[in-house]
Amino acid sequence: MAGKVVTSYLNKYGKNIVDSPEFEQAMNQRHHLRSSVGMHTMRVVAASVWICYLLKKIHVHTDSESVVKGALCHDLGILDRDDKFDNNKECYREHPVESVEVAKKLLPDLSEKSEEIIRTHMWPVTSELPTCREGVIVSLADKVVAVRDFLSFGESRFTDGESYSAPALQGMENRNRYSA
Ligand SMILES: [Fe+2]
Ligand SMILES: [Fe+2]
Repeated sequence: MAGKVVTSYLNKYGKNIVDSPEFEQAMNQRHHLRSSVGMHTMRVVAASVWICYLLKKIHVHTDSESVVKGALCHDLGILDRDDKFDNNKECYREHPVESVEVAKKLLPDLSEKSEEIIRTHMWPVTSELPTCREGVIVSLADKVVAVRDFLSFGESRFTDGESYSAPALQGMENRNRYSA
């Protein structure tokens, strides 16, 4: 059920991003030891949408479009990290701002809320707190998924059995198994 919700939200709000060359690159850049930027991102989207779905059940409204777009773009500033950043610490601090730039390129009409989601997702590593519940949701989902990535037991939990139309996601199970 949750997988279907995630797929429908991705198709509705995220197709331009998922079909982009930047996302294709994200699927092929290693991240969190055993994952890729793209797979990590898909898990953060799935976890974020799942939280929104649960909140809706208790009548708490969230802006799903901003959540999906913000979550999809939150780490795209990590692409080409070795060319952009001198070390990991700099990457942790600076990539949210870089991600906003990539998001604006992919989505010229990026909402202020999506921008804030991207800019604040690394709190408390960065100092700016998310001020909207959507920012808190994506920041929380990112941290939970990062732990799962490192422990490598979070593979496609929310997307099993679903198919994505985007070429970038075809064969994602295979690409997710990075060995070095
Ligand atoms: Fe990040
Ligand atoms: Fe992330």
